[in-house]
Amino acid sequence: MNAFMNWIEQRIPMMRVANMHAIQYPAPRNMNFWYVFGFLATIVLVNQIVTGIWLTMSFEPSAERAFASVEYIMREVEYGWLIRYMHSTGASAFFVVVYMHMFRGMIYGSYQKPRELLWIFGMLIYLALMAEAFMGYVLPWGQMSYWGAQVIVSLFSAIPVIGPDLVEWIQGDYVISGATLNRFFALHVIALPLVIVILVFLHIIALHEVGSNNPDGVNVKHPKGSLPEEDKTKFEIHEYYTKKYDIADDVVPFFPHIVLKDLVAFSIFLFAFCYIMFFAPEMGGYFLEKPNFEIANPLKTPEHIFPVWYFTPFYAILKAVPDKLMGVIAMFSAIAFLFALPWFDRSNVRSWRYRSGLHKANLIFFAIVFIFLGYLGGTPQENWKIVASQFATVFYFAFFIALFIYSKNEQTKPVPARIPR
Ligand code: HEM
Repeated sequence: MNAFMNWIEQRIPMMRVANMHAIQYPAPRNMNFWYVFGFLATIVLVNQIVTGIWLTMSFEPSAERAFASVEYIMREVEYGWLIRYMHSTGASAFFVVVYMHMFRGMIYGSYQKPRELLWIFGMLIYLALMAEAFMGYVLPWGQMSYWGAQVIVSLFSAIPVIGPDLVEWIQGDYVISGATLNRFFALHVIALPLVIVILVFLHIIALHEVGSNNPDGVNVKHPKGSLPEEDKTKFEIHEYYTKKYDIADDVVPFFPHIVLKDLVAFSIFLFAFCYIMFFAPEMGGYFLEKPNFEIANPLKTPEHIFPVWYFTPFYAILKAVPDKLMGVIAMFSAIAFLFALPWFDRSNVRSWRYRSGLHKANLIFFAIVFIFLGYLGGTPQENWKIVASQFATVFYFAFFIALFIYSKNEQTKPVPARIPR
């Protein structure tokens, strides 16, 4: 067995890569609850790909057959209902874990130098994920699929000069039709998953190049020779790392320490996931919206058109601005500002544990505003909500501007050189 493994190892660096990126990856030993969401996102990604492949076996991407083929999957295909609910629940679960994962990055300053590119890859994943979820939602060809696509695709018509032609090009027709459904299917099942998988790969490479941040925002890698003798490696670690860094007990090998933490999180996650999947797959209309149980009808507009919950904060920003083009610009700027977060934050201190009360308040207020925007964008329009969403939109952007202003000369606490005991 050993000889066989050596034979392989000399030809492809299987164990070396497994050691470097998983088994012996030096993970900060203070990784907490917030650090499980990357692992959970990976699990959900695998779930989406596997159940997606099985759904594709029975789904028919045409305006005539799509809705009926989903009914067929639900009623006739063996365990088709399970596969579909795993996929539809997985879509929302994906956004739950990704939002938690992003917020973790924000509270611990994981986007700061030298992790800017890691953050950018994360944001690109987030964009691709939104496109993936939007196109997936069109596929069952229900009322919300159709009208949701109508609202979102028509946003592009606001772009001066090329807008109307662009809309036609995206739709592949003069209106949203079977041709649109067919191309969204192609993008949903192959193009975007491929992009997401490649981006996740780059995300992990970028992370492992600079190393994980941690709840204290302490640098755990030090140039070789900079640590006192007694701090040097207390456990066997792969040669690669000991050559490159001095790793004292700030870190633990990923296996078994972090793997065990991740497994605990995974089992709790499974309880929640299975509960929703088996007992509340529609989640009161939040995961699967009621109008989508009716086949698409271009002659009948649903009373209220909302995107699924994970898009509603941005939808509220879009609607807060009366002018269509300005609304579209505001919505895309909201995402662009998140991309640029590493440059809005000029502090040298990463974790909010060592930052000012102002920063903590700003972050918490931002999270509240984001959730409030989500509520506004996902419930029927009322007069007070228009004004409220305008205020909330201003507060959303104010978070970044305020961060830029106060972070330069912020009153921070001294950051320990090592992870505190
Ligand atoms: C499919 C989606 C994603 C997957 C599978 C994924 C996977 C991972 C994994 C496995 C880790 C290491 C474990 C951890 O720190 O939790 C990680 C770290 C990280 N991710 Fe993601 N990620 C995804 C999306 C995102 C997004 C949308 C962002 C932000 C825009 C992001 C930003 C980060 C950052 C900043 C870190 C480093 C955190 C630290 O070291 O403190 N990721 N990601």
